[in-house]
Amino acid sequence: MTNQVKIFDTTLRDGEQALPASLSVKEKLQIALALERLGVDIIEAGFPVSSPGDFKSVQMIAKEVKNATVAGLSRALPADIDACGEALKVADQFRIHTFIATSDIHVSNKLKKTQEDIVEMAVAAVKHAGRYTNDIEFSCEDAGRTHIDYLCRMVEAVINAGATTVNIPDTVGYTTPTEFGGIIKQLFNRVPNIDKATISVHCHNDLGLAVANSLAAVENGARQVECTINGIGERAGNCSLEEIAMILQTRQAMYDLNTNINSKEISRTSKLVSQLCNMPVQSNKAIVGSNAFSHSSGIHQDGVLKAQNTYEIMTPESVGINKNHLNLTSRSGRHVIKHRLHELGYKESDYDLEAIYAAFLKLADKKGQVYDYDLEALLFFDQQKHDQ
Ligand code: KIV
Ligand code: ZN
Repeated sequence: MTNQVKIFDTTLRDGEQALPASLSVKEKLQIALALERLGVDIIEAGFPVSSPGDFKSVQMIAKEVKNATVAGLSRALPADIDACGEALKVADQFRIHTFIATSDIHVSNKLKKTQEDIVEMAVAAVKHAGRYTNDIEFSCEDAGRTHIDYLCRMVEAVINAGATTVNIPDTVGYTTPTEFGGIIKQLFNRVPNIDKATISVHCHNDLGLAVANSLAAVENGARQVECTINGIGERAGNCSLEEIAMILQTRQAMYDLNTNINSKEISRTSKLVSQLCNMPVQSNKAIVGSNAFSHSSGIHQDGVLKAQNTYEIMTPESVGINKNHLNLTSRSGRHVIKHRLHELGYKESDYDLEAIYAAFLKLADKKGQVYDYDLEALLFFDQQKHDQ
């Protein structure tokens, strides 16, 4: 089995469909080009049949992106697949991604069909997509709640029909890592032709487990992860691209798996998506939150000043952030004050550390965070005292 994990980004499809206001064609293209720079393998650009605007943006992205496969989504219906094929045909490399639900809940309540009908529709959809490309992905929507025997049957049937990637979504974010990893393991043990396709996963975050479930799937043989920048997506969102990519990079020695992600592009891509989508990133969000590389405790600050890896498992530079940040608060020690004053251009002989530190603690107790301009003001007043 390959040790390369493909990153399939669906920010422009699953992410975009959950936004309060849709993105313009130009904004979608800007994001697609940022994803290309980031090194994603597949960019899901949209759902062409859903609207003329979506068709146009998928077409535009297909035309402009050169270093990633561009994918479009379609239901398992000929008209959807034709719209995908039409929008994507200008691309150098493209993929048709077709899906249908496989869980009893969806099959009987939503689609009002039998399991037999669904297998037939899935197989027909994959064959129809084969008129346009041989890069065909099939998704078993709500696979996380699909009976494993039926899921195995479906996966085998769509691979026989020509699917080259089979995606196993946890559409409603219901499964747990042991359970979801187990589903992938069973597929590998029970589906006879499984090695003819890449097994992909697409996890939602309703219980906050999207990244953990994706990782469990990779541990059990999945080699494509579907994810979004900043984890945006339907309801509580999707697996976050930056988190899964940095897990595999930071723990490379443990997993021996690689992605094509250029992690130094992560921070700026995250900022671009946040701004254009008008979706602020929570400050304590892993990897891209404004606090992700900030240290507040005096003990931690002292530690990172002595050796960065005491409290940092990856460097800020590795995700494209210039440097870490040490918050000046009443928990900060003398060491960090001296360090910050040095960064601001002051020599130790310019000030009395004990006096500045005492004044700093008084101020920090009153206002919480002390900023660089506060420190400079303390220095100024201390100097004035000496001059009088
Ligand atoms: O969550 C889901 O099941 C999906 C499919 C269309 C892949 O978004
Ligand atoms: Zn989804």
